[in-house]
Amino acid sequence: MLRRQLFNKVSARTMITSHCVMIKEHGQPKDVLFTHEYEIDDDNLKEDSVLVKTLSSPINPSDINQIEGVYPSQPPKTQDLGTSFPTFVCGNEGLFEVVKVGSGVKDFQAGDWAVPLRVNMGTWRTYGEFSKEKLFKIPNPQQSKDQGKPPLNVVQASTLLVNPLSAYLMLNNFMKLEKNDWFIQNGGNSAVGKYATQIGKIMGVNSISVIRDRPNIDEVKQDLKGLGATQVITEEENNDREYSKQVKNWIKESGGNLKLGLNCVGGKSSTGVARKLQNDGLMLTYGGMSFQPVILPTSIHLFKNITSAGFWSTTIVEKDPSIKKKVLDQLVNWYQSGELKEAPAKENLFEAGDLCDMYKQGIIDAKSGKQLVTFK
Ligand SMILES: NC(=O)c1ccc[n+]([C@@H]2O[C@H](COP(=O)([O-])OP(=O)(O)OC[C@H]3O[C@@H](n4cnc5c(N)ncnc54)[C@H](OP(=O)(O)O)[C@@H]3O)[C@@H](O)[C@H]2O)c1
Repeated sequence: MLRRQLFNKVSARTMITSHCVMIKEHGQPKDVLFTHEYEIDDDNLKEDSVLVKTLSSPINPSDINQIEGVYPSQPPKTQDLGTSFPTFVCGNEGLFEVVKVGSGVKDFQAGDWAVPLRVNMGTWRTYGEFSKEKLFKIPNPQQSKDQGKPPLNVVQASTLLVNPLSAYLMLNNFMKLEKNDWFIQNGGNSAVGKYATQIGKIMGVNSISVIRDRPNIDEVKQDLKGLGATQVITEEENNDREYSKQVKNWIKESGGNLKLGLNCVGGKSSTGVARKLQNDGLMLTYGGMSFQPVILPTSIHLFKNITSAGFWSTTIVEKDPSIKKKVLDQLVNWYQSGELKEAPAKENLFEAGDLCDMYKQGIIDAKSGKQLVTFK
């Protein structure tokens, strides 16, 4: 633990130094991210406070959008951490280890693992002091072992809040999918897509994943089928009206119904997804990776009563925080039972230097896959 001794005439006391990555103004991360150091007086924690050390903090597309100023949910800028101008600490997702608790905290103790329960808590920091209400306890490796269950690894534990939570909510909160029903999703190779595939399989629901063509397409198809995808098709097949007959046959042969579409791409990919839905089907749009608008033919509204709606996990969990706890418990159970596997992520260990350089590099590398900044 990094401690700094502060001396005065009568006593010597120790403080914990936290390094945090902040912004003052919105802009490109390489231009606006900076590191700030501040002291946490761990001998004088607030009664309901929990002092935590960060073990891992992911870089998500929404964190980058927040820094750029194009994300609707923004943390308030304050001078609470001793800056001479208003700022906020970046990062929304993470895994913490409890270091010490305030006198009124009974639910946490040193060594526990916890994840943020609220958005905009600022996880890109080495240490933090948070109200106990803002943290959710998950089993640390020893606690899992004591329960006779396999421990969660750092990737699983630190990436619970965004992608698997969203996949779960989209499959469970909008309509009742019966066993043997189907959903179709584009971005089938995305982290959210991989979680949706696996959660669908656990629920007994079939899935069609649409992915972009690539030289190793067969390998990617096999990987996705290994996770539980019933069918994997290319964007070209998704856009081909003739190929839709093949899809109809799969559904018919299964005896199920294709009720739900998940769209994170937009453009003609969203058209292909929506066209395949049965009457009264729903397409949820949760991302816009192609930067193209959602395009829906008038006829599918008129004659098939297809609904198109948006999904934003932030709205759902802010309206009803209890839902987040329920889903987190379920995800932890699935990881412990081995039914759920984490989407791959690269762990980048921070050892020394300027912390914000780790996130700047991670944001560059995020184009080739999910990046985590981890701490010893
Ligand atoms: N609304 C919410 O609450 C919520 C929650 C979580 C995530 N999201 C959003 O969901 C999206 C996916 O997030 P993630 O973390 O799962 O991303 P990710 O793992 O980085 O995957 C991105 C996916 O998008 C695909 N893609 C990128 N550009 C494309 C294009 N032009 N056409 C077709 N496919 C394209 C990629 O395909 P390749 O494999 O071919 O590169 C990949 O499958 C992001 O937009 C994210 O912000 C939203």
